[in-house]
Amino acid sequence: MNRLQGDTAPGGQDESNGKRVAIMDPMDPLTRKADGERAVIIRTRHLRKVYRMGSQTVHALAGVDVEIYRGEFLCVMGPSGSGKSTLFNMVGGLDAPTSGRVFIDEVDVAQLNAVELAFLRCQKIGYIFQTYNLVPYMTALENVTVPMAFAGVPADEARDRGMSLLELVGLKDRWFHRPIEMSGGQQQRTAIARAMANQPALLLCDEPTGNLDVKTGDEIHHILKRLNTDRGVTVICATHDHRLIAMADRILWIRDGKIERLAKRSEVVVETGSVE
Ligand SMILES: Nc1ncnc2c1ncn2[C@@H]1O[C@H](COP(=O)(O)OP(=O)(O)O)[C@@H](O)[C@H]1O
Ligand SMILES: [Mg+2]
Repeated sequence: MNRLQGDTAPGGQDESNGKRVAIMDPMDPLTRKADGERAVIIRTRHLRKVYRMGSQTVHALAGVDVEIYRGEFLCVMGPSGSGKSTLFNMVGGLDAPTSGRVFIDEVDVAQLNAVELAFLRCQKIGYIFQTYNLVPYMTALENVTVPMAFAGVPADEARDRGMSLLELVGLKDRWFHRPIEMSGGQQQRTAIARAMANQPALLLCDEPTGNLDVKTGDEIHHILKRLNTDRGVTVICATHDHRLIAMADRILWIRDGKIERLAKRSEVVVETGSVE
């Protein structure tokens, strides 16, 4: 069987000695670093997601193969319903694909058990959503330290780290505010600080400025860009905002659950109101 085409390779499951193998085979051509020496942080293979609702079938992802490099800033574009959030859920280990594979740092996510998957989500990935998703009865600081508590960080250290993250996003003086006492931009800053709580390698942002005005959205964009350039965090960001696209290293277009185009930022013309 051609391993490049096969659904069980690479990595696959080696049950011969009773152990499941979650690491990709280093001899496999797919494991090699792509694009010169750039390491791949996310790799998807033949990724499909089918939703069934009654007699209706929706192919939210219809075979996505993509490699995302460590340290890059990738914007994902596509009309509403094209599969952006579904791709995020698969790549972030929040939901399982119908078929195909997701590798994070060459680990096949499907082969992780519940504890390993929880550890991966908590330590490696920060999530940022359009609707902020803060816990309403907690202060900004408490929201930011929740993931640290999951990771077993002692309370004192969590508070110190939480305060410096709030300072990083310009909210040090608001640490005691609850979400209802904050503007949308301040809530999203808090959500960014929370996403950074355990120093993740990857930030997944699903239309992070979709609910914000242009000026506030721009401030959020600059925070994300700074995390990318100063801390080397890989940022994957679904967006319709052309100012954010102008900051990206690459742009991925999805339509009807398929990759329509993937281009370096330098290969596209970004103008206010259009991207070509
Ligand atoms: N939980 C779900 N159940 C059924 N259909 C879904 C579900 N989530 C998404 N879909 C459908 O999958 C397609 C892709 O949705 P989504 O990934 O949310 O797109 P986008 O984020 O690009 O707007 C849409 O047709 C949507 O209606
Ligand atoms: Mg969406």
